[in-house]
Amino acid sequence: MAVLLEGVSRRYGETLAVNNVSLAVPSGQSVVLVGPSGAGKTTLLRLMAGAVKPDSGGVSLHGQDLAGLSPGRELAGLVGIVAQQYDLVANLSVLQNVLAGRLGSWGLWRSLMSLVAPREKPLAMQALTRVGIAERAYRRASQLSGGEQQRVAIARVLVQDPEVVLADEPVASLDPARAEDVLGLLTGVARESGKTLVASMHAVELAAKHFDRLVGVRDGCVQFDSTQDEVTPEMLDSLYELEGLCA
Ligand SMILES: Nc1ncnc2c1ncn2[C@@H]1O[C@H](COP(=O)(O)OP(=O)(O)OP(=O)(O)O)[C@@H](O)[C@H]1O
Ligand SMILES: [Mg+2]
Repeated sequence: MAVLLEGVSRRYGETLAVNNVSLAVPSGQSVVLVGPSGAGKTTLLRLMAGAVKPDSGGVSLHGQDLAGLSPGRELAGLVGIVAQQYDLVANLSVLQNVLAGRLGSWGLWRSLMSLVAPREKPLAMQALTRVGIAERAYRRASQLSGGEQQRVAIARVLVQDPEVVLADEPVASLDPARAEDVLGLLTGVARESGKTLVASMHAVELAAKHFDRLVGVRDGCVQFDSTQDEVTPEMLDSLYELEGLCA
């Protein structure tokens, strides 16, 4: 399994953000977590990224237990995240932001050097071309629109080239046409390169159109888990009903 969560729980103070979730994602699949605000989607993705530790249960990627992996090269080769706030460095150029995707495999010295003279520039330009904004390479990240910044964040994860790509609300700040574009791009790139993709989204119809599998999350637990063609409007409605079905 590319991603394996076994009985994972995570609390923030009084809040049980993730409640005994088990989930197995085979290599190459694209999965989307859907559900209302506060359901636990971001926490689940951060658990998969090793950015948050479970209170109980285990998380492993391609058979490697994340509990035993320290942040760094090994983790960066396994998993990369496009965060909900895509955290670009405002004062750096688009190109330098994309090159930052290599941080994990570069080591600090070379990374710092890249701020002076970008290395592996062709790789970064290729990624920017792939997401359709090569002509913005020398602009500052702060001078881009929200949608363009989203593309830069995707280019950065392409350059990082991890086995598992996580994308938290990748289209939240985009208009409907752009959202279609970016989702097509993200799932297309994952499919072509055989990567596993786990994303989160609010827009369920849009999600159903682009991902192989939909996992409905509510109150920290999985409410349904079904393939693209099995998902029904009733399942989607149930996510937003007042009474949850979670045990
Ligand atoms: N760092 C934190 N400190 C305290 N509580 C947190 C923290 N992160 C998340 N929570 C709480 O955990 C629960 C799940 O949050 P999470 O961010 O995972 O939800 P989400 O499904 O991503 O929501 P959204 O759709 O709004 O992004 C919420 O009740 C939230 O308030
Ligand atoms: Mg979230």
